[in-house]
Amino acid sequence: MRITVLTGAGISAESGLATFRAVNGLWENHRIEDVATPEGFAADPALVHRFYNMRRKDGSGARPNAAHLALADLARRHDVTLVTQNVDDLHERAGSTDVIHMHGALSGALCAACGHRWRAPMVMQPEDPCPACARPATRPDIVWFGEMPYHMERIWDALEGSDLFAAIGTSGNVYPAAGFAQHARRNGVECLELNLDASANARDFHRRIIGPASRTVPDWVASLG
Ligand code: APR
Repeated sequence: MRITVLTGAGISAESGLATFRAVNGLWENHRIEDVATPEGFAADPALVHRFYNMRRKDGSGARPNAAHLALADLARRHDVTLVTQNVDDLHERAGSTDVIHMHGALSGALCAACGHRWRAPMVMQPEDPCPACARPATRPDIVWFGEMPYHMERIWDALEGSDLFAAIGTSGNVYPAAGFAQHARRNGVECLELNLDASANARDFHRRIIGPASRTVPDWVASLG
């Protein structure tokens, strides 16, 4: 079966990584405009690097949970396109390959001057020189609000060509990911969400499985055979 899976911060919550919109979530402790916009980076690159250095450190200490492992297992038996909004590498560490990071990844660094990309060190500073052009214009390779998510053509194609679309652990608040179910449904694709409770775009799904991802995702994967 051809399955497109979208994951959000909820799949990594049981690995100990903060989600964005929960009580005491990332956006409760940091203003989006300060740490997740190009304007915020221009105004205070050191603050933005500190925010992502902290998340890189948290991420390196986290372990993939049963939900990440189940999705890696799913791809061994079905034609799976795995799209994540998450910037952690828990899917890769669970064994998933070819993960589409539509919001970028903490493991990536980008030169704002020449566009060069390289593997980010654990700690990045504003004055770090770009390995290609040597200018101190390095930024995390993360897609910020107001910027274009990565790999969108490939994602739309996957959604249109799937038999099933499953959204796991995402609140359905941020587009274009929040529009994936509607797009899939319009193309006759069965849409399922797995979450602790109904998401903001719950009406776009045919079915919902409520519960913690570390339990619901392995059960769902097992049910597909
Ligand atoms: N199991 C399943 N779902 C969970 C769990 C869990 N253990 N814990 C939390 N959730 C669900 C919450 O119910 C919520 O719907 O995960 C979702 C997390 O929502 P958000 O914090 O909004 O995260 P996400 O949907 O990934 O945010 C999307 O917003 O800020 C931007 O770029 C950022 O990629 C992020 C995007």
